[in-house]
Parts: sequence; structure tokens; C-alpha cells
Amino acid sequence: MTNTLKIGIAGLGNVGTGLIARLQEQEKLRLSGQIEITGVSARNRSRARPVSIDEYSWYDDPVALAEAEETEVFVELMGGSDGPAKLAVEAALKLSKPVVTANKALIAEYGETLAQIADKSQTPLLFEAAVAGGIPIVRAVRESFSGTQIRSIKGILNGTCNYLLTEMMESGRSYDDVLADAQRLGYAEADPFLDVSGTDAAHKIAILSSLGFAVPMDFSRVKIGGVDTISLKDLELAGKLDHKIKLIAEARQTQDGVICRVEPVLLPKTSPLAQIDGPLNAVQIETEHAGNYTLTGPGAGSHPTASAVLGDLSVLLSGQNKAVLGMKVGDLNNPFCDQAQMSTAQSKYLIRVDLLDKAGALASLTEELAKSDVSVEALLQDSAGTSESAPVAIMTHNCSLAAAEEAVKHVNSLEAVLHPARLIRIETN
Ligand SMILES: NC(=O)c1ccc[n+]([C@@H]2O[C@H](COP(=O)([O-])OP(=O)(O)OC[C@H]3O[C@@H](n4cnc5c(N)ncnc54)[C@H](OP(=O)(O)O)[C@@H]3O)[C@@H](O)[C@H]2O)c1
Repeated sequence: MTNTLKIGIAGLGNVGTGLIARLQEQEKLRLSGQIEITGVSARNRSRARPVSIDEYSWYDDPVALAEAEETEVFVELMGGSDGPAKLAVEAALKLSKPVVTANKALIAEYGETLAQIADKSQTPLLFEAAVAGGIPIVRAVRESFSGTQIRSIKGILNGTCNYLLTEMMESGRSYDDVLADAQRLGYAEADPFLDVSGTDAAHKIAILSSLGFAVPMDFSRVKIGGVDTISLKDLELAGKLDHKIKLIAEARQTQDGVICRVEPVLLPKTSPLAQIDGPLNAVQIETEHAGNYTLTGPGAGSHPTASAVLGDLSVLLSGQNKAVLGMKVGDLNNPFCDQAQMSTAQSKYLIRVDLLDKAGALASLTEELAKSDVSVEALLQDSAGTSESAPVAIMTHNCSLAAAEEAVKHVNSLEAVLHPARLIRIETN
């Protein structure tokens, strides 16, 4: 007897149409059964799409599609944490219909609530495509590494930001210039906020933290910084200090709890994550007993993301069913590291200042750092050229975040400092 899944797909954009294209030639796939698309939903029925949808029932309302009798499995590919995506997923789960989604915002913000509904009736809710597109990281963290303690999960989880940083460095063009180009080429959204502010990567690391460290799925506990504050000069000075700046998402178990953060970080040029350029994603997993792993691949795009959705559909075909978040929601009680504890953690920092090109300015800068017990490991002053200020980069020795922040406050009070100084954490490997 052939095993068949009848699916309804809500969302016919990049991912939805990529999925349909693959399913329209599913004889080429290695599935243990048949997947039949019964119904579809999107906002605009008459919009031109790269695949034909004529043979599927059309639903104006994604909730109606989720509830339709012909829909056995609901595939949510619309996006957005609230509104129709949440309503339709809840509607499907309440009817005990398995759900597959690529929606990281929805899972990061409502993952626990949805998991509780799903687990109560042992209904699968799968979201491999929500993190790092085609890289199979969700299942790896939730299942494959469940037998070992994870020390850290660290990676480049937003291809748009990585593309912008790489392109600025390689072309020597400004952030605004490169962003405008990326929007023209379709690498960045018309409204890039979610990507460049670090929010998108924060959604993904919130999900991985909960799966990998059993902390509550609580997006509000992720400390978030974006690439929108990084200038070409920051990248160039980092380069002269043999580092690259990357937007790094990280979850790490410490003795004070789990640190969960997204921020631009200086990495030595030789470190594996510094080698990841362009729109690629990469995730490193450091474990207690099983060594370290790096997975690299396309973190977005129609086909890689559709491939992850298909992987989840394949799991449903095989009949596997695990707790949505790997364990009971009530058992996700490993504590987060709080802000005060994070401020005491030791690290090196880059302090970037535009300093008035006049005698004594540099000396007063280092004096201000010393007042906060921040000592200098390396200092680089670029030429002022025709401008009245010279860019200066200071690499500190290890100090606490609190000390580095206090030092920056002192530095900003100097008359010779033209714009607020920038503080960027430096990783040593
Ligand atoms: N694109 C990627 O590479 C990628 C990677 C990983 C995860 N994801 C996730 O996958 C999901 C889909 O992304 P995408 O890039 O495919 O988005 P997209 O191209 O913007 O497509 C969104 C689709 O949802 C439909 N839609 C939006 N609001 C709707 C509503 N209120 N009712 C019914 N349909 C609605 C749109 O309808 P119309 O076409 O009629 O406007 C469109 O077909 C998102 O959660 C995203 O975060 C995307």
C-alpha cells in the first residue's frame, strides 16, 4: 500500500513555490511515500507564479485551508509571528493535524505555546527550515546531539548580513551603497530591518538555544546587536589587525547560566567562521564528549529552504513523532545568564574612535582607558587624509564588558572624540 500525505500549503512565495516545483517532480526524490498537494493559499490568487497551481483547490483564508477536510498536513510558508500564520498553525494543531513550517519568528516567539498544543495530542510540529535554510541543524541539535552535552552553538545565521559585510570589505563600498545593491539584486528585503538589526539571527539562536540547552524558548532573553552600526572603516581597521567582523549568533553554557546573543564580533582571519563569506551560513557545535562540528551551506533561498521542508515531510511519511522541542515544555528550565553576570565575563574588545588630529589627543584617549582599568594590547591610527579626524582602533587586553563600557563612556566625554566610540567584542578563536 502506498503511503500518501495530503498537504495544504499556505504561502506561495519563494519557499512555497520552490516546494511545489520539487513536488511536481517528486519521482526524482527519495521519499518513502507519495505527497499530494490538495489545497493552496496566498494573498493574491491572480499573482503570476513560477509554478502552476491550477490543479489545487484555492483558499483565500489560510485558516480555512488548515481546517479543510482534504488537508491532512498543514505547511505554513507565509511568515510573520502573529496574524494568519499563528492562527492557521494553531487551527491545524487543535485538529491534531501535523504542521511543517519555515517560520522562525513564529517558533521563536510562540514555540512553547504551540509545542504544548502539539505535544498534548502527540501531533508533530516540524520546523527544520526555520533555522539556517538548507543546513539540517534543527534535527541535529534536537536529536543527533541529544546524547552529549553541548558547550556552545555558534554561527553565521543570517546570509544577508554576511553578504553585506563581505561585499563592503571586498568592494570597499559603504554600508548604504552595498545594502541598496543587495536590495536591487533581491539579496535583501525592501525593509531590511529584521535582517540588519540582528532580529532574524536572534529568532534562530533562540530556537537552537532551547533545543540545545533546554532553556525556555524565550526570544526576549537574546541580547541583540546588528550590522547596521558597522562602517567600512570598522571593517578596514579590523582587517589591518588581522581580523574580520562577522555577525555571530551564539548560545553558550556557562557556570552562571546560558548566554544567548547576536552581535558583530571580530574574529581572527584564520578562524573557521571568518572564512564564511557571501550569503552562506555556518554553525559550529562544540560538545563535551563528542568533539566539535561545523556545518556550512546556503542558509536561505527557494530550493535549499524547500529542501528542508521536504525533509520534514519525509519524517512525517516515515511516521516518526518526537516531542516538538525535544523534551516536555515544562522541563525547559535551564536558567539564562542574566545581564549583570554577562557584564562580568572577560573578553578582548575593539574600541573604535574618530579622533581629532591634534597633539595630545591619543595620549588623553589612553589615559581615559586606564581610568577604567582597560589596558591596550594594540593600537592602530589610520591617516587623517584630508579630514580633520583620524580613525583609531584599540584592541584591549581581556577585561569585563562593564569595564569596557565604562571606558567607552570616558572616551566619549573627550573633546577630541568626534563621534561616539564603537565597542566590538573580539573572539580569540
Ligand atoms: N526565503 C527564504 O530563503 C527563507 C529561508 C528560510 C525560512 N524562510 C521562511 O519561510 C517563510 C516564507 O518565506 P518566503 O521567502 O517564501 O516569503 P515570501 O516570498 O514573501 O512569500 C510569502 C507568501 O505568503 C503569502 N502570504 C503573506 N501573507 C498572507 C496572508 N495574510 N494570507 C495568505 N497568504 C499570505 C504571500 O502571498 P502573495 O504571494 O499572494 O503575496 C506569499 O505567497 C517565512 O516564514 C520565512 O521566514 C524563508
